[in-house]
Amino acid sequence: MIILSIETSCDESALSIMRATGTMKKPKFNIMADNVASQIKIHAEYGGVFPALAKREHGKALTPLFIKTLNDGGLFKEANKEWDSKTKKKIEEALSREPELLIDFLREFKKIKKPKIDLIAVTTGPGLEPALWVGISFAKALSILWDIPVIPVNHMEGHVISPLLLSNIEKREDEKTINVSFPALALLISGGHTELVLVKDWQKYKKIGQTRDDAVGEAFDKVARLLGLPYPGGPQISRLAEEARKNENSKRTIELPRPMIHSKDFDFSFSGLKTAVLYTIQKIPKMTEKIKVEIAREFEDSVTEVLVKKTMSAVLKHNVSTILVGGGVAANKNIKKNLEDAVLKYEREQKTNLIIHFPRTDLSTDNSLMIGLAGYFQFLKKKKGIPLSRLKADGNWELK
Ligand code: KG4
Ligand code: ZN
Repeated sequence: MIILSIETSCDESALSIMRATGTMKKPKFNIMADNVASQIKIHAEYGGVFPALAKREHGKALTPLFIKTLNDGGLFKEANKEWDSKTKKKIEEALSREPELLIDFLREFKKIKKPKIDLIAVTTGPGLEPALWVGISFAKALSILWDIPVIPVNHMEGHVISPLLLSNIEKREDEKTINVSFPALALLISGGHTELVLVKDWQKYKKIGQTRDDAVGEAFDKVARLLGLPYPGGPQISRLAEEARKNENSKRTIELPRPMIHSKDFDFSFSGLKTAVLYTIQKIPKMTEKIKVEIAREFEDSVTEVLVKKTMSAVLKHNVSTILVGGGVAANKNIKKNLEDAVLKYEREQKTNLIIHFPRTDLSTDNSLMIGLAGYFQFLKKKKGIPLSRLKADGNWELK
């Protein structure tokens, strides 16, 4: 079946089309088109994501992105011809208004032929509700117009499933699948979430730990800000930390805590770590590049140690043999390497098999392919979409 997926939960407007076949055990998918319009530059000025701004930008981005995606997927060659700039503007305006006001939008879409799409998968939570509504409105409008079923997808389930999308973007197809044995453990580390989730089966989740305050990506972003580095801070801190590790003469001069590393539960806390960085900076008479690099390394080491320790304790306690890592912070090389080393150590010590899967780097951050695949899995189980009246944004939707 051909799936159109829509993701607008935070600061990326993402649309893709994939052909999905096969079972949940052996899914096959062919990526026909995949586009992301990032708002990062716009939010960078403010050092974080502003919901009203995100909503407006999604409204502007979705229509041109939709046309491009249809064209890339070879589904709709004439789209560009028929959609003059006036039409596009009207649709953008309709989308940036309240979700109920879709009449203008539908009137414009009526001018075009129905492309071959069998299912729409759309993120309905968790995330910023005004931003989520833009994607939901878009999905609703297309569904009404072209009579296509809609499946609501949990953004975090998308991140859990993201390591399954191994495809090579150049070839745009993938017949490979990865084996996941249940129960598996998902470590979800992003700008909005830090969670350990037991995956009893697809669609059967149990959250076993989470952050009590800041998410790990948020901590990277806040510490980067304290160091005068631009948003998003994760890649910036990571670059500095790597510099420090390359320099063999650099000694560990900064000491930061490893919050909650010895607690018996699987919870995290990163806001105290950010405050510890603030106090460290306040005590330094003059900030130099060398000190910045040292702080970045010590901060990244602290976060890594805590994530590795908690993940491995959860693996042991729940006797899992697959770990799935997802979320923007999964792109962090130091965290990845240390998790991989810990997995090898665990295998040696426990004399058992343990496999860890990471998403492709470009699919660790928000994208719609993961939403499409999660939507496909849901459809395999339910065999139908949900009534449009029940399609609503839920900013706090928890994985269950
Ligand atoms: O999953 P994501 O794109 O959005 C949310 O759903 O939150 O994650 C974005 C987060 C940002 O906080 C960003 O700083 C962080 O992922 N991030 C990184 C790296 N790349 C992105 N954090 C650490 N190291 C990285 N290489
Ligand atoms: Zn995300």
